[in-house]
Amino acid sequence: MGISYDPTKGLFHLRSPGSSYVLQVLETGLVAHVFWGGALRQPVELGRIAPQLFGEAPATPVLGEAPYPRLSLDLLPQEYPAYGRTDFREPAYQVALDDGSTVTDLRYQSHQIYPGKRPLVGLPATFVERGEDAESLDLTLADEHAGLEVVLTYTVYRELNVVTRSARFTNKGSRRLRLLRAFSGSVDFPDDRFELLQLSGAWARERHLWRRPLVPGIQAIGSTRGASSHHQNPFLALLRPETDEHHGHAYGFSLVYSGSFLAQAEVNHYGQTRVAMGIHPLNFSWLLEPGEIFQTPELILVYSDRGLNGLSQTFHDLFRRFLLRGPYRDRPRPVLLNSWEATYFNFTEERLLELAREAQALGMELFVLDDGWFGRRNDDTSSLGDWEANKAKLPRGLKGLGEAVNDLGLAFGLWVEPEMVSPDSDLYRAHPDWCLHVPGRSRSLGRNQLVLDLTREEVRRFIVDRIGAILRSAPIAYVKWDMNRYMTEVGSAGLPPERQQETAHRYILGLYQVLEELTEAFPHVLFEGCAGGGGRFDPGILYYMPQIWTSDDTDAVERLKIQYGTSIVYPLVTMGAHVSAAPNHQVGRVTPLATRGDVALFGNMGYELDVTRLDPEEKAAIQAQVVRYKRLRALIHRGDFYRLLSPFEGNETAWMVVAKDRREALVGFYRVLAQPNPRPSRLRLVGLDPALEYELVGQGERWDGDQLMEVGLTVEPYLANTGGDFQSVVLHWRAVGPGKE
Ligand code: DGJ
Repeated sequence: MGISYDPTKGLFHLRSPGSSYVLQVLETGLVAHVFWGGALRQPVELGRIAPQLFGEAPATPVLGEAPYPRLSLDLLPQEYPAYGRTDFREPAYQVALDDGSTVTDLRYQSHQIYPGKRPLVGLPATFVERGEDAESLDLTLADEHAGLEVVLTYTVYRELNVVTRSARFTNKGSRRLRLLRAFSGSVDFPDDRFELLQLSGAWARERHLWRRPLVPGIQAIGSTRGASSHHQNPFLALLRPETDEHHGHAYGFSLVYSGSFLAQAEVNHYGQTRVAMGIHPLNFSWLLEPGEIFQTPELILVYSDRGLNGLSQTFHDLFRRFLLRGPYRDRPRPVLLNSWEATYFNFTEERLLELAREAQALGMELFVLDDGWFGRRNDDTSSLGDWEANKAKLPRGLKGLGEAVNDLGLAFGLWVEPEMVSPDSDLYRAHPDWCLHVPGRSRSLGRNQLVLDLTREEVRRFIVDRIGAILRSAPIAYVKWDMNRYMTEVGSAGLPPERQQETAHRYILGLYQVLEELTEAFPHVLFEGCAGGGGRFDPGILYYMPQIWTSDDTDAVERLKIQYGTSIVYPLVTMGAHVSAAPNHQVGRVTPLATRGDVALFGNMGYELDVTRLDPEEKAAIQAQVVRYKRLRALIHRGDFYRLLSPFEGNETAWMVVAKDRREALVGFYRVLAQPNPRPSRLRLVGLDPALEYELVGQGERWDGDQLMEVGLTVEPYLANTGGDFQSVVLHWRAVGPGKE
């Protein structure tokens, strides 16, 4: 593992246990991307992978520089391609100079290799706690004519096939520069025999899997909504056509950012593929006065030669070890009851305590009061910004309620939506210019609300002070941080005209600052991110909040797809997953309680229904589910996750978690619709130790690991709730005795 440099060839080799990333500084100072893929013992040189580069290419302008006068950037695989100098593909960045020109040309200046990883100022990023866990490279490039310096930073992790990248722009000259685009990274692949995998959806059906072959031209996904969005996740992967869950090569790209982003793959006329990702350039520009710096968000690159499961497991390990922070990174996550689908806005303290009492009797650990507790908030038309408890509903305030919940033996948690303001609120009446808006234009509403202008220091102060005061005022152990609308009329009364196009990104920087301050001031509080469900499920949010409400759709069948898709990048411990009522409130479907529990089990499990209206049988079932989850949550949250059968491909879904030492495994199997005279379902397990014997916990049955993996199980005999639609089963295997030869 590590980064080596061969000065005679200008070759940098970034090595992890199973991958190599090679770049080369040419004699002219141009920085070429040479290779990213499986581990090489020696770095390969550019001439080997692209011998045609230095010859004539028809109808292609050339740079005309010695020693490669025929070299065209249009064919050169590059690390951070510029606009305007013979490369007609999309650039990684574009800068306007004071004279109005937009052509730049970065050349190598110097580099530094160092142990560990430095934080990105003001931005979330993966980190290491010990220098020996990673090694980093800062590659300094400059365009002297423009007075521009760009430092490309790379980190490789000792144990993971990960490269992280980011770019830092500095205006080293004496004239203004304006960034028109500043992607976090760009990778040029020498061929296009790939399929593009993306996680796309909408509210209540987030992160569904879509896979399509690459074709010539640009294929892009992105968000222009001011949040990473329900619609597209800041992730894409290139897969070889033959790659499946278990085999084949996969290249994953994940952006540590919560705002508007663009991710694209461009195939050119020679079949080369350029993948680039970063802040969305639409309505983005950034003024760099002399001496000023702009830091891009971080882009994570993951390579797998073990298919999509291998790709996901690397993301999961990286996020669990080097992205999530705070005491809850490693602590068991509490089983919660959330009040939202139980009461919506309609509750009294007594009603909440009834719910909490029942939650405690069912074995839950945390009671969460959702929306409706403040101002005059009896529906969604008012009061965001007026963060004072509604005394009509909560006569003893949050303190009284929180203490009463604690007296029942539960921790107390609270919903907030601090980034927003209702036009019908005291806050808005006092500060009508504190929301994003454009002078002379009306202000569009989303869920009857406006977006506070987090670019402004006084707005950030207000949020930190108000939320801080609430957290100090009552025994609050958990916060659900919601955000329920996208940005429109993106402008700030606090910024000068020439900086208006910085608003959306400055908002996200402001959000990160607020979250940094609050999570630092309240380290004991478990924060759960939320954005109308999973509208901001991204690594940027996870840096501050180690779990996120995955979707407002709590239906078990819908959740199969949502959780399956989300697991491509995000570990189960980050996914809020609640058992809710039947008929389900989003789709009206009636599923067995057992199935709802079996789906929510593979996540961060909680409940969101009126537990006071359960019959004794349902109570007993929930009690048993909670006991089971508490027993298994360490395995579920820390083990290796494998997807086995895809809900996007058929009627059956299966997945499993295997402990890191392979002595324990948990399998979930789900059949959506019952079929007449069904074909038996065979499920071959994966990831076990073939030499170990495993016992089916609670049933005594024993199988060898190799049998479970090679022969596989026939699922039918294990299905608890046989007959009817929406059947499921969870099987827990534990190794017995030492391994056999
Ligand atoms: C949207 C969230 O996703 C829901 O869980 C709930 O908290 C509502 N907002 C409350 O308004």
